[in-house]
Amino acid sequence: MCKGNSTGSDSVRIRRYKKATVYLVLQCVLLLEAIILLITEHRTKSNKFENSEEDFNKTKMKLLSDIHDMLNEKVKFENEIKEIIPKNLQLTEGNKLLSKHLREMDGWRCYQSNLYYISSEEKNWSESKQDCSKRGANLTIINSNEEQDFFKTHDDVWIGLNNMEGTWKWVDGSPLTLSFWASREPDGAKECVVTSKSPEKSEWKTPPCSSTFKWTCEREPSNKIKNLVIDFVKKISANANVWIGLTDSEVEGRWKWVDGSTLTSGFWDPREPNGHRGENCALTYSPGWADYACSDLFQWICEKSILK
Ligand SMILES: *[C@@H]1O[C@H](CO)[C@@H](O)[C@H](O)[C@H]1NC(C)=O
Ligand SMILES: *[C@@H]1O[C@H](CO)[C@@H](O)[C@H](O)[C@H]1NC(C)=O
Ligand SMILES: *[C@@H]1O[C@H](CO)[C@@H](O)[C@H](O)[C@H]1NC(C)=O
Repeated sequence: MCKGNSTGSDSVRIRRYKKATVYLVLQCVLLLEAIILLITEHRTKSNKFENSEEDFNKTKMKLLSDIHDMLNEKVKFENEIKEIIPKNLQLTEGNKLLSKHLREMDGWRCYQSNLYYISSEEKNWSESKQDCSKRGANLTIINSNEEQDFFKTHDDVWIGLNNMEGTWKWVDGSPLTLSFWASREPDGAKECVVTSKSPEKSEWKTPPCSSTFKWTCEREPSNKIKNLVIDFVKKISANANVWIGLTDSEVEGRWKWVDGSTLTSGFWDPREPNGHRGENCALTYSPGWADYACSDLFQWICEKSILK
């Protein structure tokens, strides 16, 4: 009855009611979708966040371990420095002493383990020779190309060579074997010898012995200096016997440095070198150098210039 008797206003209300329901249901569906979207988004965001937290943790761990390594390095380095400082002080002291003694040899220059003096005055040959004796030295005797090279920057200095007795002789009485005459020299008169610079080298000329020139004296370093040098090498090599760059393997008894220069005096132990053909390499020893078989095993010492 109720159905049959429904009025017009009732049916309108029912239609409105249905519309509202559909509308509400739609709203619910939309809301639900929004909620699902939000939840998903939240999930991915929090995943991302977890991932970045993991990365952060990893980076943190790596940095911590790096810091740890660096601290270890620092401690090692500090210990090394602690060891090096006293050694360095010792070396600096040795070096200072050596430099002081070398400076004290006023006007003398060290070249290939010999000392050379070049005067500023000019005298005749005999007086020059006398001056060298007064200095505890001799007029320079040149017996290698390297020694002659030393004079390529000097003009006209008397050297210890003359023919006053008819033959060319050095002041130590030894005959002339290696010579560096300029062209048309010697000319045969009774003369003395100057070494004279020419464009790239130095050559010998023969002015009369009575003319005046600067002169050059040569002497071996004193024992004091030899000992200082030996001490210095001993200190840097921590007292070990070490190979140095000297050998006579090409020509027995002709000791040459690894740079090709010839040894003129050196710091040999008084009993050395004594190995003849069997021992052709030089070792620092006490109280001087010794020759050993080059095949023996020893520590070695290198040198390097820090000034370029
Ligand atoms: C990151 O480290 C903290 C503390 O060390 C820890 O509590 C956390 O679980 C770690 N997170 C991840 C993602 O490993
Ligand atoms: C001078 O020469 C002589 C003879 O060779 C030598 O005995 C002497 O040691 C030399 N003097 C110096 C200081 O080198
Ligand atoms: C060298 O000079 C001295 C002093 O001037 C002189 O007495 C001597 O005779 C001269 N010698 C020669 C060879 O000229």
